[in-house]
Amino acid sequence: MTRITRAVIPAAGLGTRFLPMTRSMPKEMLPVGRKPVIQYVIEEAVEAGITECLIITGRGKRALEDYFDRSDIGDNDENARLDKLIDRLDIYFVRQKAPRGLGDALRYAEPFASGEPFVVLLGDTFTRPSCLPTLISAHARHRVSTIAVQPVPEVLLSRYGVVAGAPCGPDELRVSDLVEKPGPGEAPSNLAVLGAYVLTPAIFTALARARPGRNGEIQLTDALRVAAKEGRLVACISAGRRYDIGDPVSWLLANIELGLADSETGGAVRELLEELRTERSRDGSLPVQ
Ligand code: UTP
Repeated sequence: MTRITRAVIPAAGLGTRFLPMTRSMPKEMLPVGRKPVIQYVIEEAVEAGITECLIITGRGKRALEDYFDRSDIGDNDENARLDKLIDRLDIYFVRQKAPRGLGDALRYAEPFASGEPFVVLLGDTFTRPSCLPTLISAHARHRVSTIAVQPVPEVLLSRYGVVAGAPCGPDELRVSDLVEKPGPGEAPSNLAVLGAYVLTPAIFTALARARPGRNGEIQLTDALRVAAKEGRLVACISAGRRYDIGDPVSWLLANIELGLADSETGGAVRELLEELRTERSRDGSLPVQ
């Protein structure tokens, strides 16, 4: 079986949850620690063996293209690391004509995929640790599309695509159905779709047939449901922490995790957290444990 070397990164979404920041900057350029979120996504792809990336952009997203030019300026380790990362892969860009949904964005990737399975990672979302190696190995074993899922509390399920299915391996489900943003009592399980995928080229046929749904958008979920009904979709349960940086709360939490993990900033962040905790325990707003 051929190795998966191509990743598609949709990044044409409007970013309304992060207004007003996204009036003039792509949400994929929001900093997490010392790097923009899109860099974490690309690093995750390269770590998993990806050598070619297609980033799907749109209006107001030109900063993404400039970011991935080599710069060779200044004496800055992080900048030099980015130049090295850029040397390890070829990055292509295509513009989605209008933001008509994730499914519509992926249609632009068909020539790039060249009839081979490919990875999809959302330009504003990453998981720590990455769920990509698991998805790629499950794809190699089952030879079908694979998607990452995670249990989420019932009250939050209405924000996600939710899967139904039966176990087909350790932490794996053969998906039988998917429901996008289920209403109360409609969710078929507590397993939400995280936004990382290995897709086979059959997805393009399903996307071509998909009809616009809510807000006139083409949903990837509709095309995945076709694969699910044919028994050709496996969900891998991920234990990683998922950060959807387009959501301000998730952005803040990611900054805390990444700030703590960084050898230069970790000490200062830890000190602040401890200080705040002590203060809150003292004024009674946090119980002492
Ligand atoms: P989101 O659900 O995060 O939607 O998209 P959004 O429009 O980007 O953000 P909000 O809700 O307005 O804050 C999921 C992924 O699909 C991409 C986004 O860039 C993101 O990576 N996407 C979404 C597109 O590429 N094109 C679209 O038309 C919609």
